[in-house]
Amino acid sequence: MRLSSSSSFSALLLGILLLANQASLASEGSVTDRIMEANDPFDASQIESTHPLPDKTVWAKETSQGKEFRVLARKNFIERYRCSTCHNNDKKVLAKNAALLTHGNITMNHGQGENNLTCVECHHAKDRDTLVDKQGEKIDFDHSYQLCGQCHFRQKRDWIGGAHGKRVKYWAGGRVIRNCTTCHNPHAPKFTKRMPATYSLPLKN
Ligand code: HEC
Ligand code: HEC
Ligand code: HEC
Ligand code: HEC
Repeated sequence: MRLSSSSSFSALLLGILLLANQASLASEGSVTDRIMEANDPFDASQIESTHPLPDKTVWAKETSQGKEFRVLARKNFIERYRCSTCHNNDKKVLAKNAALLTHGNITMNHGQGENNLTCVECHHAKDRDTLVDKQGEKIDFDHSYQLCGQCHFRQKRDWIGGAHGKRVKYWAGGRVIRNCTTCHNPHAPKFTKRMPATYSLPLKN
């Protein structure tokens, strides 16, 4: 009686050990097992902790298929920002170095033929630190896609979906993409034609 109970006890112990061993195997598991087990919702914030964002970004005021995404910010790259250091009604801008001060370096080539857009179609006439939409509402320089999208709505739609522009970070989770003005100069947005940097020799036959 004693003997048999001890042997059934050790059999039970062996059984537990085997089960535990199997459980630990499953948790390390094969790739398929791990995929089958992974039914937790994907947590994008975990990626950010190991792969930090590249540049300054802002959340787009748009969603793509119900998901939020980020856009590269612009203000850091705008040399003359803040504009209100000069465009300030209380302060006179001296005529010395006028060409430089009055943005003589900007060449407009944006519009239909000879009809360039005017400065105040995009820049707020009163508050130079912002852009302006068709209703006279302010648009932040970091969200210039809102400005461009008013006229180029097809490109903006493609850009939201990812068919125009460039993704710079995160294939999984919250994506980060370039702003319109990361690529296009708003004053002359068309890319100039250029020759390929290298050429291929004609094939010999
Ligand atoms: C160093 C001073 C300075 C800074 C900084 C500056 N501006 Fe100007 N800007 C001028 C002067 C001077 C003129 C010509 C006189 C005027 O119109 O007030 C001018 C003219 C303009 C005009 C032409 C329309 C107009 O009012 O005659 C626009 C648009 C403009 N600026 C936009 C900007 C924007 C946008 C920024 C910031 C990104 C900026 N400026 C920053 C000095 C400056
Ligand atoms: C199609 C819209 C549009 C028009 C028209 C336009 N701008 Fe701009 N401008 C922008 C946007 C958008 C930016 C910010 C670009 C960026 O993100 O780098 C900008 C930037 C600027 C800057 C800052 C550049 C820098 O790097 O310091 C100045 C100055 C400026 N604009 C002046 C003008 C003047 C003057 C005119 C008229 C001759 C004009 N803009 C016409 C959209 C426009
Ligand atoms: C007020 C309307 C308006 C706004 C705002 C505007 N554009 Fe344009 N854009 C035009 C017009 C008009 C043309 C000329 C289209 C043509 O020739 O077919 C043009 C031309 C272009 C072109 C060249 C198109 C081609 O076929 O070669 C590009 C690129 C462009 N814009 C980008 C931008 C970007 C980027 C912004 C925002 C910074 C912007 N546009 C804001 C009206 C606008
Ligand atoms: C990654 C860089 C990049 C970004 C971001 C980008 N574009 Fe473009 N865009 C291009 C290139 C490259 C072309 C093609 C130019 C060519 O064919 O000469 C183009 C072409 C265009 C054209 C000409 C018509 C066409 O479809 O070919 C317009 C208008 C335009 N872009 C507007 C926009 C607007 C508006 C945004 C933001 C919502 C934007 N782009 C964002 C690179 C970019």
